[in-house]
Amino acid sequence: MRRLEDKVALITGGAAGIGHAIAETFAREGANIVIADRNDEEGAKVAAAIVKNNGAAMSHATDVSDLEQVKGLMAVIGETYGRLDVLVNNAGIGERADFRHMDDEAWDRLWQVNVEGTVRCAREAFDLLRSSGRASVINVSSLMATKHARQMSAYSASKGAVTALTRSLAVEYAPYGIRVNSLAPGYIDTDMISRFTGNPMISKALLGQTPLRRFGTPQDVANAALFLASDESAYVTGAGLAVDGGMAVTL
Ligand SMILES: NC(=O)c1ccc[n+]([C@@H]2O[C@H](COP(=O)([O-])OP(=O)(O)OC[C@H]3O[C@@H](n4cnc5c(N)ncnc54)[C@H](O)[C@@H]3O)[C@@H](O)[C@H]2O)c1
Repeated sequence: MRRLEDKVALITGGAAGIGHAIAETFAREGANIVIADRNDEEGAKVAAAIVKNNGAAMSHATDVSDLEQVKGLMAVIGETYGRLDVLVNNAGIGERADFRHMDDEAWDRLWQVNVEGTVRCAREAFDLLRSSGRASVINVSSLMATKHARQMSAYSASKGAVTALTRSLAVEYAPYGIRVNSLAPGYIDTDMISRFTGNPMISKALLGQTPLRRFGTPQDVANAALFLASDESAYVTGAGLAVDGGMAVTL
């Protein structure tokens, strides 16, 4: 028996990086995948590759910062499956600048995706998650929710909000059989951090602070997401799981 057999799993930002790895991993474990990405051209390619490998997947063009699009996404999942077993709030963006040089527009751009996108998906999916009977919500937060990194104040604040929201939702959703946990990846080798991984000086410094001495892979995060999505974590809710090579525990 595969670990997510017949479950319906929605992965926002599933067209690339960590979300892509989660979509493929969940599909291999028997889940019906829904990819919701604003880059639907890539999302459709990921879905087609899963189907080619005898999995089940569809993609639906969605900008998670747009409430009407999120509502439309949930309506399609409702019509197709009538329930949602796993929601992975993974879509996110970075914005790198000194705090004093970031205007309201830049803050709002980041906040609308990282925070409001998570809020809207978690809220609009509630009825579908309740219909599951034993659903799992996984919010992709970050090591930056609890650590400082240069020029990352807005990103850190947004991920702090995601981690805090996870705790409150875990308690509010528990009576409905919905678990809510967060993941806190460290430096994971995707397009989002290629400016770090691609720079030998920065790479060396970051790896010097990483006890396991390597960057994480999208698969490392997908493996942790699989645990939180599956019934193996049936007694885990409100937790934050670090996937960071030990970075969070260093000075
Ligand atoms: N890469 C890292 O080191 C790292 C570390 C900690 C946390 N994270 C978090 O992991 C998540 C995934 O990051 P990644 O590294 O895979 O990024 P990525 O840039 O490789 O992929 C992000 C995906 O999200 C999609 N997306 C962006 N904004 C969207 C929106 N408004 N609506 C729908 N889709 C949208 C993009 O099109 C893309 O497919 C993010 O929440 C990020 O903050 C990443």
